[in-house]
Formats: sequence, C-alpha cells, structure tokens
Amino acid sequence: MTRIEIAAHGGPEQMVLVEREIPALKPGQLLVRHEAIGINFIDTYNRTGLYPLPLPSGLGKEGAGLVEAVGDGVTRFNIGDRVAYCSGPNGSYASHNVIEADTALLLPTTISSKQAAASMLKGLTVQYLIRQLHPVKAGETVLFHAAAGGVGQIAVQWLKYLGATVIGTVGSEEKAELVKALGCDHVINYRTETVSERVMEITKGAKVPVVYDSVGKATFEDSLDCLAPRGLMVSFGNASGPVEGVNLGILATKGSLMVTRPTLAHFTPNREELEKAGNDLFSVLASGGVKLANPTEYALADAPKAHSDLEARKTQGSLILIP
Ligand SMILES: NC(=O)c1ccc[n+]([C@@H]2O[C@H](COP(=O)([O-])OP(=O)(O)OC[C@H]3O[C@@H](n4cnc5c(N)ncnc54)[C@H](OP(=O)(O)O)[C@@H]3O)[C@@H](O)[C@H]2O)c1
Repeated sequence: MTRIEIAAHGGPEQMVLVEREIPALKPGQLLVRHEAIGINFIDTYNRTGLYPLPLPSGLGKEGAGLVEAVGDGVTRFNIGDRVAYCSGPNGSYASHNVIEADTALLLPTTISSKQAAASMLKGLTVQYLIRQLHPVKAGETVLFHAAAGGVGQIAVQWLKYLGATVIGTVGSEEKAELVKALGCDHVINYRTETVSERVMEITKGAKVPVVYDSVGKATFEDSLDCLAPRGLMVSFGNASGPVEGVNLGILATKGSLMVTRPTLAHFTPNREELEKAGNDLFSVLASGGVKLANPTEYALADAPKAHSDLEARKTQGSLILIP
C-alpha cells in the first residue's frame, strides 16, 4: 500500500509518501481500501506535535471505501461492503488502512464515499455538539465560530434545520457570502469586527446561551463576552492555538459561565452510541436538512499542500484526499 508518514513532528514538509506492506489482520479488524480520505484539522495538530504521536507514524483518522478483507470473528461486515470510519488508527492518509470493525459504519447507497469521507468526523462532531452536549432548541440563538469550515458548514445547516437563529463567524467576505447562502442569519467577519460587540447588537443586549468555539486562543476571551449569564462556552478546537492559563474567576464575573472542552470520542464511546449518532447524521443528510457541498479534492501525494491550505485559512468546507 502507499501511505503518508511522518518521521518527525513539524511542518507539512514532514509528510512523505511511502510504500508499505499491508499488515496482517487481527481478530475483529477490517482491511479497508480507500476510495476517499477525510482531512481534519486535528491531523495538523498530530503533524505539528500539538497532539503528539509515537513516531514514525501514519496520519489521518477518517476514510471511506470498500472492505477488502475481514479478520476472524467479524460478523458485522463482509468483503465488498462500503464503509466509513473516523476514529483512526492514525494512518488513513493511505491507499488502505486496517481498522477495528466496531468503529466502521455501513454506508447507505445515497452517500458516496467522497461525501462520507468529507462528513463523518465533522458531521458526528456537529451531532454531539448540538444534539448531545447542548441540545439546541428551536428559537435559540447560538454563536458558531469558523462557520465556513468543514465542521462549520454542516453546523450552520443543521442548526437552521433545528430552528435556531445562527450567528456565524468567518475570516473573509467571500466566506461570509457562502455561509449566508447556507442560511446563517447573521455573519460576523472576525478579522474586521469585534464579535462580542456585534453579538450585543444582534441580540439587543441579551447575548447567547451557547458559543461553539473551535478557533481557540484568538477568540476564547471574547467568546465569553458573548454569553448570557449561566451560558455555556464550548471550546472544541485550537485552530489559532490552544487556550491556556484560564483564570476561573472570570467565569464568575462574566456571569457564572460554564466552560467545557469536549472531544468526539467521549460522545461515541461504544458501538451503540456510534450507531445512534451515525443514524442521526445519516437522517439529517437524507432529509436534505444538511446538504453536503462537493469537497475540495487533493491527490494523496498532495497531502502537504492540503495541510498548508487548511492552516493558511484558504479553504472552505471539507477537504478530502483521493488515493
Ligand atoms: N473537539 C472535537 O471533538 C472536534 C472534532 C472535530 C473538529 N474539531 C475542531 O473543529 C475545528 C474545525 O475543524 P475542520 O477540520 O472543519 O477545519 P476548518 O473549520 O475547515 O478549518 C479551520 C478554520 O478555522 C478558521 N481559523 C480561525 N483562525 C485560524 C487560524 N489562526 N489558523 C487557521 N484557521 C483559523 C479558518 O476559517 P476562517 O478563515 O473563516 O477564519 C479555517 O478555515 C478545528 O479547530 C478542529 O480541531 C474538534
């Protein structure tokens, strides 16, 4: 098989395409031949070492394609099934990956492998953020940062489907137009405007009950100023760098705020909950409540370019690699 590996943490240039033997399957495992591979911002954290990996290592947690072999004891899947997965092991930037069968979902015929690779990790993330962690109610106004990104575009549409009023942030006018077209009620360009000031205006001083913030360091404190008393700050990413050294006292002075730093794995901890969340995602896709735009495609060998583009904020929506 061919796959991307890193021998050291660092920039995109650390990613090298290599040839490797396909490992032997252990009981309970599947060999998946990828038709498409999901690129997620977390892959950049693994590459840089913000979330370190034992080296050398493959990269990437998400892929979709055909089951080429099944390990002993696997009853859930057969050779030829089309599946997707998004919890690793790191090494999905490859023609093939060996995964635990219990982490895969069978794909309905209505979802292509490209769409699945573009949306499983991001869609399950949105599912837990707005349906489990803080179940968003019709009529609620929520602030969702990086609304034009992969996670953001799914979130904006799903929030609208639930009947929420959505305030989205973006880093350019082009991205602003895009998220407006997806139904975002209010768009703030956080490169040119102060988000909390605009949220005060939009909500006529009421502020919002929940902020979903994946930008991290650059937006954290201002996000707290967007929250109504007893509001919930969901800090779920580090696109601008990790949030560190928080003085808990500011949560009291800003209104007895709550803060959480969640991660997908804890909201899909077992087969039953993965299937439940997956079915919720597939249903909203089937209903048309969330429509997946065509993802931006890169060849597997161009993974370094894809990472550079993602980190330089040049991309919109989901990115995939084609092996
Ligand atoms: N905790 C979890 O369970 C979980 C799961 C999945 C994803 N995430 C997080 O969700 C976020 C979105 O993931 P994604 O894969 O869909 O990526 P993405 O949103 O497509 O890309 C990140 C976006 O963040 C914005 N951004 C703001 N400041 C940035 C900076 N200094 N550097 C780079 N980007 C910046 C950019 O949009 P603008 O140009 O519009 O600012 C950029 O396009 C990431 O932070 C990721 O780590 C968390």
